[in-house]
Amino acid sequence: MTAQSPQQSPLWPARLHHIQIGTPQPAAMAAFYQRTFGYQATLLADGRRHLRGGERRLLIAEGAARSVGFGAYALASPRQLAALRGHLEERGIAPQPSPTPLFTAAAFAVRDPEGGQIVFGLPTEDGRAADALPGRLQHLVVTTVDLPRSAAFYEDVLGFVVSDRVVNDEGVMTTCFFRSDPEHHSFAAFLAAEARLDHHALEVPCWNDIRDWADHCAALDVPITWGPGRHGPGNNLFFMVSDPDGNMVEISSELEHMPREMAPRQWPHTARSLNLWGSAIMRI
Ligand SMILES: [Fe+2]
Repeated sequence: MTAQSPQQSPLWPARLHHIQIGTPQPAAMAAFYQRTFGYQATLLADGRRHLRGGERRLLIAEGAARSVGFGAYALASPRQLAALRGHLEERGIAPQPSPTPLFTAAAFAVRDPEGGQIVFGLPTEDGRAADALPGRLQHLVVTTVDLPRSAAFYEDVLGFVVSDRVVNDEGVMTTCFFRSDPEHHSFAAFLAAEARLDHHALEVPCWNDIRDWADHCAALDVPITWGPGRHGPGNNLFFMVSDPDGNMVEISSELEHMPREMAPRQWPHTARSLNLWGSAIMRI
């Protein structure tokens, strides 16, 4: 199967709308996210917790620690959603029922080669309210034990557009960044010893908002896990904190924009690629 050009991608444009995080301690996780990120929590009838902010949404579900329930991507229109469904069916992918209450009934899910679930749909509520501290849910990053297989699925089957690849001295791809609109990545995958959630990111308007979030986390005694720094791929400013299960949450700003037709680039597998300013958390 050959990669389609970005101009042909049925996934363009799509934005990460919400994610579901699996955890063995949903109450503690929900409390952490409410306190740290200003979410309002609702307990759903099936036991999941819906955490709602102005421009960010999470679902917290009982599950294995550091597991991705799913990433849910909002498409631009019913017509685009139907076209994506047809595109996947043509490639032998049978859409599965949607697991999210935050999309309309037309939503559907697919499984990636390692069993990770990704959902495409249209939000049931469109309005975006202001958050006390701004931060739009923007990207999801997972780890994978077979990056070439995962990357081929996300690019060739789902229609994500590759922005950057990180490759080590042996020619092994260790990270792949994918976009589904001009923002550098809405999804990325790191090669690692196990498949799990790595982090999700909130994009903020400017560097001053990163300062305000860091001060906010300091006041709550939530320490910075990594950063501040600037990523090579994506060129975004960032810092990260960790939730009670060890999943990282990134506060990011100035994420690079790439035109739809721009070709993928390649970076060396070094700490400097992951953080131009200094040390990095290497996944492998
Ligand atoms: Fe990130």
